[in-house]
Amino acid sequence: MKRTRIKQIWKDAEKFGGKELTIAGWVRSVRDMKQFGFVTLNDGSCFNDLQVVLEKGSLPNYDEICAANVGSSMKVKGTLVLTPDRPQPFELQATEIEILGSVAPDYPIQKKHATREFLREHQHLRPRTNLFRAVFRIRSLAAYAIHTYFQEEGFLYVTTPIITTSDAEGAGEMFHVTTLDLENVPKIEASDNKAGDAGTSTVDWSKDFFQAPASLTVSGQLQGENFAMAFGDIYTFGPTFRAENSNTRRHAAEFWMIEPEMAFCDLEGNMNVAEGMLKFVINFVLENCTQELAMLNKFVDKELIKRLKHVASSAFARVTYTEAIDILEKAVEKGHKFDYPVSWGIDLQTEHERYLTEEHFKRPTFVTDYPKEIKAFYMKANDDGKTVAAVDCLVPGVGEILGGSTREDDFEILEKRIVDLGMNPDDYKAYLDLRKYGSCEHAGFGVGFERLVMYLTGIDNIRDVLPHPRTVGNAKF
Ligand code: 4AD
Ligand code: MG
Repeated sequence: MKRTRIKQIWKDAEKFGGKELTIAGWVRSVRDMKQFGFVTLNDGSCFNDLQVVLEKGSLPNYDEICAANVGSSMKVKGTLVLTPDRPQPFELQATEIEILGSVAPDYPIQKKHATREFLREHQHLRPRTNLFRAVFRIRSLAAYAIHTYFQEEGFLYVTTPIITTSDAEGAGEMFHVTTLDLENVPKIEASDNKAGDAGTSTVDWSKDFFQAPASLTVSGQLQGENFAMAFGDIYTFGPTFRAENSNTRRHAAEFWMIEPEMAFCDLEGNMNVAEGMLKFVINFVLENCTQELAMLNKFVDKELIKRLKHVASSAFARVTYTEAIDILEKAVEKGHKFDYPVSWGIDLQTEHERYLTEEHFKRPTFVTDYPKEIKAFYMKANDDGKTVAAVDCLVPGVGEILGGSTREDDFEILEKRIVDLGMNPDDYKAYLDLRKYGSCEHAGFGVGFERLVMYLTGIDNIRDVLPHPRTVGNAKF
């Protein structure tokens, strides 16, 4: 079917004025005025609809069309008439309409105020609502903006494996990948357990597909570093999986992460890339998603556009973890109540992150140099012996949007850290090799793509920015 998309018409109506067009789309509303009627049609190409005018006298199936339910799909042939003096700048005068797919009366999403919880149970239909059309248009544009930013800055895009045999974060939150029969797992005697290296496991991994315990990746960073040490600046953008048993508004079991990695780069350079990228993406969405943002600003978060504009034009705050703890302790002295007590050494909780970024700094905030005990093994040790060159970026409403560090580039220090943490250096031989052959200072970070989309849309639940969310106890659709 040769069809014109509604977006093209809104972009350049003059070009289509007086022309015969074929449009295919879904009905948003029908009004029957007896001798003539109106159908508003949307084809998903843009937020705007197309008004179709139908005359009873010239359409043999006029009554059938007027009886069509919202959501029906139609093919309309007609002439585009420019109507510059009316609220609608143009309309399509139909010469022929064909109903392609009718809508059964139990269509669940025609309810006027379907809640987001209700729509989560109807994930196959929710992209048809205005709210989700706005969210997923912004998600798509944000992905494009991220690629654009890194490509224009000369970064190499590298895809990293989804199936892996190493735990990049060392946190043990991996989903197993196996072809073994779970009802009948092959075992070996613990005494001659040589196959794979699963500690005290008696599973005979040599019988498994990869002949070793394998998992879904929690991060592409380690493989990304291999490419950074050859290309200088690289980024990954791919799916990430974490079997974290945390049922929160900000955690998904399957999410997307962008992980840039830069050779010859320190923590300050790392923060500059992070800040530059976030501002680029925000500006890109502000420029290209005006209707979507206006809709979200009206119905989801009245401060959204104001906040995004403010962030795009102001410098992010930068503090050390030690300074951040100081700020939080002073807040407690002044009477602010936190559920989790504050003291040097704690992992910052969401309430602490929100206080720092929402109440104290009132803008995105980089917190650097965390205690080594609460951060991953690969982070570069600082001279104080207590902290590592880590950086998290906290944003109002979302908390941690990205986390990264300078990487430990000294072979001996890294090997000792791996051993001290009870990990097996043999599992990290390739990673250690990078420190043996032409090592250099390098740094990177990982942005949770959904956390970014939450920030860009004002949506407060990660389940509503993922097309088909996977969370604890839920992998439906
Ligand atoms: O802080 P994380 O665990 O860092 C890493 O994975 C590093 N390898 C990144 C790097 O240095 N290359 O995760 C990075 C980001 C977090 O800041 C958060 O935005 C997001 O990933 N994230 C999640 N998003 C949704 N659901 C989850 N369960 C997430 N866990 C982390
Ligand atoms: Mg983190």
